[in-house]
Amino acid sequence: MKILVVGKGGREHAIVWKLAQSDKVNKIYAAPGNVGMAEQAEIVPIEVEDLDGLANFAARNGIDLTVVGPELPLTLGIVDIFESKGLRIFGPNKEAAEIEGSKAFAKDFMQKHHIPTARFKVFESHFEALDFVRTAGFPLVIKADGLAAGKGAVIVNNPDEAKATVENIMVERVFGEAGSRLVVEDFLEGEEVTVMAFTDGERVAPMISAQDHKRIGDGDTGPNTGGMGAYAPTNIVTENLMKQIVEEILEPTVNGLAAMGRIYTGVLYTGLIITDRGPKVLEYNCRFGDPETQVVLPLLDSDLVEIFSDIIEGYLNVKEIKWKDASSVCVVLASRGYPASSEKGIPIEGLENCESDNCVVFHAGTARGSGKYITAGGRVVGVTSVDSTMKGALERAYECVDRISFDGMQFRRDIGRKVRNLSNSFL
Ligand code: GLY
Repeated sequence: MKILVVGKGGREHAIVWKLAQSDKVNKIYAAPGNVGMAEQAEIVPIEVEDLDGLANFAARNGIDLTVVGPELPLTLGIVDIFESKGLRIFGPNKEAAEIEGSKAFAKDFMQKHHIPTARFKVFESHFEALDFVRTAGFPLVIKADGLAAGKGAVIVNNPDEAKATVENIMVERVFGEAGSRLVVEDFLEGEEVTVMAFTDGERVAPMISAQDHKRIGDGDTGPNTGGMGAYAPTNIVTENLMKQIVEEILEPTVNGLAAMGRIYTGVLYTGLIITDRGPKVLEYNCRFGDPETQVVLPLLDSDLVEIFSDIIEGYLNVKEIKWKDASSVCVVLASRGYPASSEKGIPIEGLENCESDNCVVFHAGTARGSGKYITAGGRVVGVTSVDSTMKGALERAYECVDRISFDGMQFRRDIGRKVRNLSNSFL
């Protein structure tokens, strides 16, 4: 098969890396890709929002399967365009992807289908939103309705912070049109986890649970980022809890969307909070998570091409999906200034010292300059390791991190600390 992977981050590098292990694959292209993928894929300079460009490329080059990493092309309708041209593509169509594209749609949907989530209100007028937050109880979470690169949810602790946030989103439009509507919801206490699932629109196969680390600093301090690291599996999602998540969240979501005529196929991402009243949905995403994919796919024992193909053909063989009995850790290395800005063009030392059977470096913001790897974005690489124990995976990941350096390199030293604190037996 010839496969096209759309996207350019660590998530897409992990997808390319996993696909390259399949004996069904002859050739992989990545658009626009990154230099780290070049070993496994031919890089094609087409941006992710150039839907016609991507479809024309797939048609001209006889691509058998296209896999879409980021949410933007999915919410713009890349799947609809490819399918209208008879091209095989993995991911939800535009209507199904609205589960991520509009927070207001997702919240209304959950309420209608009794899927556990925080209480909320949707506002289309900033006057009404301001009126509401003046007298509300705190803390609250304020979310821009549309896509905001993971930065559109703000926790506010008092009326002044709430007023400033409503004005930033709805008046200043810091997230553009994404801020034309607003969701205000209760802040929930609990541990956050990610559960992604493969689905053909009817059957659901949950992946191993993972935990992201959103804040830039150790101990969950500082501003939110795209994600500074992850580990999998979590000891938070026990077998019983996973059963509950499947029965109360994943299956009702897929069935509810199907009942609306929005058949959801692809990867359904749920960002969950485990409260003392059970798991609740904080957010849906219509694609693989990043960096979670960098720890979950290395634990997948089955052939990813077969899973994608089965879903496209309409029958996901849930029982055939097998996972390794191992643990995985990813530590993201970021540029100075991230997440507000990022320095570029800084030489990266030591990447070549990291590749081994148990450690892999997924590239995100890297480029080549004067024959060397240089930085080219905020999140530069994700260092992932796999081991039979979580302790081993953590040690290997940080050993590898210590071999890499670039001026201004930022990373968290506490990825997986919660898992260490939660249970010694897990290690
Ligand atoms: N890790 C969060 C996301 O993928 O949106």
